[in-house]
Amino acid sequence: MRKAHVVALSNEKPRYGRNTDVRPRAAVRVKGLWKVYGQESVKVTALRDVTVDLPAGSFTAIMGPSGSGKTTLLQCAAGLAEPTRGSVMLEDTDIAGMAERQLALIRRERMGFVFQGFNLLPALTGRENVVLPLLLARRPVDAQWLESVLRRTGMSEHIDRYPHQLSGGQQQRVALCRALMARPEVIFADEPTGALDTRTGEEILTLLRSAVDELEQTVVMVTHEPTAASYADQALFLRDGRIVGTMRQPTVPLITEYLTRSGHTR
Ligand SMILES: Nc1ncnc2c1ncn2[C@@H]1O[C@H](COP(=O)(O)OP(=O)(O)O)[C@@H](O)[C@H]1O
Ligand SMILES: [Mg+2]
Repeated sequence: MRKAHVVALSNEKPRYGRNTDVRPRAAVRVKGLWKVYGQESVKVTALRDVTVDLPAGSFTAIMGPSGSGKTTLLQCAAGLAEPTRGSVMLEDTDIAGMAERQLALIRRERMGFVFQGFNLLPALTGRENVVLPLLLARRPVDAQWLESVLRRTGMSEHIDRYPHQLSGGQQQRVALCRALMARPEVIFADEPTGALDTRTGEEILTLLRSAVDELEQTVVMVTHEPTAASYADQALFLRDGRIVGTMRQPTVPLITEYLTRSGHTR
């Protein structure tokens, strides 16, 4: 845990529902993962034998050039894409190849997603989307915590709009608010700061960092920005569908040096 990025949330902590105190801590374990899109002449191998641990209560950044398989890895780890081969363990449950119905429940109860254009319900306002997982799980909505999350993501004024009335970056922030409210074991984020100005981006990274340090959530984030990755506890570097490097306690200079040395370009 690095204190540099910790922002005290202690006086803003929600009062959690009775079920949440004993919730098990998750780690995602990916083993021998292959993902092949298409077939025969149009075959694309997006992941080649990827094995990695995403430790519970830690923040992992996935980096790599465009097309290196970052999104595919995130989607397989989140049970949104079915791997061609290999296993994905959430705690002690193998979610690779699990029936969609069961998987949907696991996603709803144990995972949060911060993807652009992903899974906000279009018929619900931003606010309704944010509280939906809590309502479905019959958990209380802490109004103070909700206001705090909305304020810190800069969404207070926009939250009563429908998704189609929001920009891509705002939609992603709604998804982040939802993930912070429901407090799932694992939050998966794909380029969460890509469409944002620097200041909002930093606020969001700080919130993700706090989710790990103070709420003991696990965060897995795809990014190509060294600054964003420097908020993580470990950075994984992908190239051509393989993990070619791992860095603990990444910093901007260390990442930049690594990327330069390895001839990594976007
Ligand atoms: N649905 C898909 N169908 C076919 N090919 C895909 C699909 N999604 C991704 N790919 C290919 O898989 C590779 C990895 O893609 P992706 O995981 O999106 O990389 P990244 O997120 O690092 O840019 C790329 O060559 C991409 O074109
Ligand atoms: Mg991607």
